[in-house]
Amino acid sequence: MKIFSTRAIPSIGLKLFADAGHTVTQHTERRELAQSELIAACREHDALLSAGPNKLDAFFLQQCRHLKAITLLSVGYDNVDMAEAAKLKMPIGNTPGVLSGATADTAFLLMLAVSRKAFYLSNTISKGDWGFYGPMDNLGIELNGKTLGIFGLGRIGIELAHKCAAAYHMKIIYHNRNRNEAAEKELLAKYVSFDELLQQSDVLSAHANLSPETNGIFNKEAFSKMKPSSIFINTARGAMHNEQHLIEALQQKNIWGAGLDVTNPEPMEKDNILLTMPNVCVLPHVGSGTVETRDAMTIIAAKNIIAGLDGQQMEHAINPEVYQ
Ligand code: DGY
Repeated sequence: MKIFSTRAIPSIGLKLFADAGHTVTQHTERRELAQSELIAACREHDALLSAGPNKLDAFFLQQCRHLKAITLLSVGYDNVDMAEAAKLKMPIGNTPGVLSGATADTAFLLMLAVSRKAFYLSNTISKGDWGFYGPMDNLGIELNGKTLGIFGLGRIGIELAHKCAAAYHMKIIYHNRNRNEAAEKELLAKYVSFDELLQQSDVLSAHANLSPETNGIFNKEAFSKMKPSSIFINTARGAMHNEQHLIEALQQKNIWGAGLDVTNPEPMEKDNILLTMPNVCVLPHVGSGTVETRDAMTIIAAKNIIAGLDGQQMEHAINPEVYQ
């Protein structure tokens, strides 16, 4: 059968499809498809592998009911209208678990880079300014023994907590919809209210899913409750923070620094003031971007599709209840 992929994918995925007797059309142009183009492409195919931010909204799902399988090449699924998928009984696959280590590494990298102003200082060298040593110049802050606050303690947050506890003996506090008793035992993590998380964290890292409840939750009011010495990290979804409020919080020194792998909006404009701030590090949404992780994600996505094309239940469906 025929699969449409919105991006070129690692060869391991192409091999799995070929071994299963399927053919793949890859959209290899470096531009997003318009929704009408995506629908037209899907009409010619039996399954969709959606990588990137394409909106799989109600209209798209209604137009593409013929698809035998849809999978995302991501764990996040905020680009899909899951209520409509439930209504139409369309299973949607994703790639959980395998990207937790790489994404937690990205959060750790940003935390450390922000704490020592690493991106800013590297940029000043490339502008020809090595600087002149001054004992009070370019000072960072240390992480040892500080408190890591995790907003949304799932697989990625747990990986980050382990790394921070091992590297810097950081204390772990978290806020979730539900208590995570395993993490409380394993990491001595302490459950706190959202306000306590804001007030007590030295580093606050966002790992929740984007939902109506978490959209814009890091706003002026939230930043105003954080410590002036704190660092805000977001590797989850940019829409969780209000970017103008974040800029103001940094300018007014409500918080000390910020590390973002996700921005609001994406892509970030090149003249965004955040890119000029010494205590800010920004990456272009590369949290899961390692060879190993992208291969592992591709294997899960390919297996999701092959199962769907075989009339089987996907192992990693976000909405397995639609199979009932
Ligand atoms: C994910 O898997 O959700 C990553 O953020 C890539 O979009």
